[in-house]
Amino acid sequence: MAKKTAEKGWRKVVQRAMQEAAKEEALRRLGTPEPGFNYRWEHVRTVVRLAVRLATLTGADKDIVEAAAWLHDIAKDKGAKHPAEGAKIARKLLPKTDFPPDKIEPVAQAIAQHTGLWRDTPLTNLEAMVLWDADKLAKLGLTAAFHWTAMFVQDGVNRTSRDLIRRGRLTKWQSHTVASMHTEPARRAAAERLKRYQQLWDTLECELNGEDLQL
Ligand SMILES: [Fe+2]
Ligand SMILES: [Fe+2]
Repeated sequence: MAKKTAEKGWRKVVQRAMQEAAKEEALRRLGTPEPGFNYRWEHVRTVVRLAVRLATLTGADKDIVEAAAWLHDIAKDKGAKHPAEGAKIARKLLPKTDFPPDKIEPVAQAIAQHTGLWRDTPLTNLEAMVLWDADKLAKLGLTAAFHWTAMFVQDGVNRTSRDLIRRGRLTKWQSHTVASMHTEPARRAAAERLKRYQQLWDTLECELNGEDLQL
């Protein structure tokens, strides 16, 4: 029972910190902390679920992976530097909680290494690999299609279905992402997700053109 209460401590702290960062990002980008759809918050919660599941499947440390997943985009306002800046925030924030002290640096390392949409050199640490794979899995498949569509619609005016399709297909890099996956379950899921993602836009275009109407 005591353990359960202790665990709740760090998880609540990192969740709240990330939620605040997501609201600030929305305020910067959309002029409101409470937009109809908060992409960042939705993305991070998805990455947490995927990372924890992947940790179970690969034997990675679940505490490290979950904390890293919650905090990996907390410094997104720093652009390309956000992995390194996010790592710094983790090093400051986690010691104020009941998070195991010996696992703080591995969390920071995993966050610092979640760079790039694909990699020429694979990562070597299991927890960093799991975070990288989970983060990139969230940028593939129907998850990406719906998350990005919601964001795209919210960001612009008078968007049409054709615009959505055009935007959806601007993702040539995804095949490199699939090839860069580190863990076997993520590699398999990524390949399937990419297939579904490409099929979705083709299917939508086919429906809009009525190409599915046959004699
Ligand atoms: Fe990121
Ligand atoms: Fe991310």
